[in-house]
Formats: sequence, structure tokens, C-alpha cells
Amino acid sequence: MTERYVMSIDQGTTSTRCILFDHGGRLVSVAQREHRQHFPKPGWVEHDPLEIWRNLERIAPEALAQAGATADQVVAVGIANQRETTVLWDRLTGVPVGRAIVWQDTRTAALVDELARAPGAAAVPGRSGLPLATYFSAPRVRWRLDHTPGLRERAERGEVLFGTMESWLIWNLSGGVDGGVHVTDVTNASRTLLMDLRTLAWDDDLLAFFGVPRAMLPEIRSSSETYGTARKVFPGVRIGAALGDQQAALFGQTCFAPGETKCTYGTGAFLLMNTGTAPVRSANGLLTTVGYKIGDEPAVYALEGSIAITGALVQWFRDGLGLITTAPEIETLARAVDDNGGCYIVPAFSGLFAPHWRGEARGVIVGLTSYITKHHLARAVLEATGWQTREVVDAMNRDSGLGLRELKADGGMTSDNLLMQIVADVLNVPVARPMVVETVSLGAAYAAGLAVGYWAGLEGLRRNWHRAARWVPAMDPGRRAAEYDNWRRAVERTFGWIR
Ligand code: G3P
Repeated sequence: MTERYVMSIDQGTTSTRCILFDHGGRLVSVAQREHRQHFPKPGWVEHDPLEIWRNLERIAPEALAQAGATADQVVAVGIANQRETTVLWDRLTGVPVGRAIVWQDTRTAALVDELARAPGAAAVPGRSGLPLATYFSAPRVRWRLDHTPGLRERAERGEVLFGTMESWLIWNLSGGVDGGVHVTDVTNASRTLLMDLRTLAWDDDLLAFFGVPRAMLPEIRSSSETYGTARKVFPGVRIGAALGDQQAALFGQTCFAPGETKCTYGTGAFLLMNTGTAPVRSANGLLTTVGYKIGDEPAVYALEGSIAITGALVQWFRDGLGLITTAPEIETLARAVDDNGGCYIVPAFSGLFAPHWRGEARGVIVGLTSYITKHHLARAVLEATGWQTREVVDAMNRDSGLGLRELKADGGMTSDNLLMQIVADVLNVPVARPMVVETVSLGAAYAAGLAVGYWAGLEGLRRNWHRAARWVPAMDPGRRAAEYDNWRRAVERTFGWIR
């Protein structure tokens, strides 16, 4: 019998990947291509949507060829994507309006400050689940409309479309100017500041508040259903899923029950806890977001703690300070000492995200003495990821009342065993890593496979999750408390640096 597969597209911040999965949730082949990061001004970060589309056109056949498969063996395609990154394009020509404005871009800081003082601002977090911050899409749409002559009028006439990356890719895959479908899913829509978290529909008050015309918005659909059939790249294959990448990782980690939590450690870190079918409002600086919605079933919500800088601090240690030549060396360097020597690094390079949301914060190194060596600094770099995770977990435990029992970890940084031990130590809960660490791609594949009946239900998917490693806490409670106190005092030093 011919083998059948699900194709997953992970359109991330630095690259696009195509991964083919089989029925056991095993990775069969992978093809990847990086795209250029554009930094036209300080604080600005852009991607070229056409470059990303062309990358997909190239890598999809590569992934198939590696597996010796053809498109007719693919039962469905699922997409996971970098969230909040904003693309506007011309419906008639398919040409993007400028480059995509990336989630890390802070050009809307002044606009966000202005909006925060406008009537109606107080209602935004309750309705959308999100604080007013530069991180989300709506201020970016408004910025483009304000800075491109004639664009607002064209958007009002429905000639200019808005979407996050999954929307842009689905529109192109399903035909582009030739009848492409303009859709998004509930997880991505929940990151725009424009969707009502309860009704899962675009909200007129939020649209008016941000000045975004309804005619440019995609239709909001579930995360797992057939949106259309691909006419390009995978002709004839159903497009069966879309999720924001962090929600896809939650799904790929099979965090299907309330309280189950994952953290993906990459450039930043994103910790999501499944909170069940009712949204939990955060009183402690977390985001309320949609975790996933499978077809007509009720949406499952999540609390999210987003940390802007984790792996990026290791990159800075390598590229900015030149203290290591490859990222994995940080573990060797840090293992040469038993502690940080009293030194803490808070990487507030572009403000602090959860649970602080302080855009004006800037990074600090505190506790420097002549005793400190590069080994202590390396340790402080890894500990920064641990303590930032702890702050988010504390907030999550308070908001959810569920209490974290185990953390499922994934992402590139989880290959650092010392880091994983530090995380278990500072959280005082075990940390587990699965065999398939490509959880973002796997989550999108699962959702697409469910949509077309390739997998029957969630319980079967759970059985595909196998543990590769587990770290148990081994830190003295007194030391944990004292070091956490030091960390919090270090964080306070970052506030108010930019006036
Ligand atoms: O919210 C931003 C997040 O989705 C980015 O994830 O893995 O593409 O950096 P990643």
C-alpha cells in the first residue's frame, strides 16, 4: 500500500520549513530555508512576504523528494506561523504593500501610547485578552494605513487585504489573484487585538478603536478544517489547518487537558497553559489567547507568558561579546563553575514582555566584582532563561489556580542539559522533553490530519507522545528563594531606563 503523509509548513521568524509526518507522528523528511531580516531603522524589523512565498515554493518539492513521495500521497497540509507579523497586499495584483512588519518591530510605540490615552482603551484587554502593546497586529495595520497615501480608501473598498503569515500563504496556495481564499484561524486572530475572545468574531468596537476597516480582514475559521484546496505548490491537496506557532506547539505536545503546559525555548520563549473551554482573564500580566479549535468543537483557551529574549541572549553572548563561537559552547563554559558568583543578567534588550510589559526597560548586568569570570557570566545567561520562566509560571499559577505539575519543554535550547536542569530547579517541578521536538510542525500536522480523518481523535495523538528526557528539581529550597529574590531585585533595576 502506498504510504500517506501530512505536510506541515512552519513559517517562523527566521526561516520556513516543510516537514512531512507519517501516521505515527514521526518525522519523515524536512526542508528549510531562511529568509532575510530587514532592519531599516532602529526598532524596525521587516520580512519580504514574496521571498517567504518563493521559499515555500522551493522547499515543498525538496521535502517530498527526500521522502521519495509525490503530492498525491499528501492527505492534507497544515500551517503553523510566526504570530502577529502583519502583511497587507493588493487583492487584484497579489503584490504586498511594503514589507511585512514583524512581531518584534516597535515602530508603533508612540501610536500605542497615544491609543492607551484614548477613550475606549480600558475596554481593550477585557475584550481581546491582550494588553495594548506594540507586540500585536492592530497598531501595525493602522500604522501602514496612516503612512501610505490612499491606502485606507482602498482597504475600505476591499482592494487591500490584511493577514498574518498563515493568511498570506493560504491565499497564495489556494490560487492568489485567481480566487485565493482569505481566511485566518482563531488562534492567529486572537493575537490581533481585533477579535472578541468570547464570540471569536471581529469586534466592531475594537475595529473602530484601532481604525481598521472590516473589508480588509480575513474570515475567521477554526484551526482544523478544510479551508480550500491548494492550486499551487501542492495541487489538489486540502489545506486543513492553521495555528499560531506557539499554539501549534501546545497541540503538538498534546497538552489537551486543563493545566497541561508547554514552553518552547527559541529566540524568545513562549509558555502556554491549557485552561479549558472558558477564557481565564489574567490579573498577573499574562495573555489570554485561543489555544486551538477543532472544527465545530468548542474553542480551548490558554494563558500565555511570552518572554522576548532567551536564546537571543546566548546569540548576543556569542556574536555581541564573542565569548563563544557556537551556541552549544555556553553549556561547557557555564559548567566550569557551581554558581553565578553573585552575578545576574536581565536581558531586557527591547523592554520586558510577560509578566512586566515594560517597553522602556533595558538590560542590566548586576553584581559584578573582579571575581566574576566569563564562566559566571555564561551561567547567568542560562539562569536568566530559568528565572524568566519562573516569573511567568508564578503568574500562571496565580491566574489559573491550577498549579503547574510538570513542564513539557521543546525548541532549540532544550538540547542544553544544564539549562533544562536550571529550569527544573528554579520552578521546583520536573521538566520533560519529547522524542519529537519539532512540536510546532507536529501540532500543525495533527490539526490538518484531524480535519481530513487521517487521525481519528485526540487520544490517539496522545499515544504518539514519547518522553526522551526528564529533569527533576535538585535545588536547595533556601538557595532557590534567595536567588529568586536577587533576580527580582535585578529586574527592578531595568525599569524606567528610557524616559
Ligand atoms: O509571537 C511570536 C512567535 O509566534 C514567534 O515564534 O518561533 O517564529 O520565533 P518564532
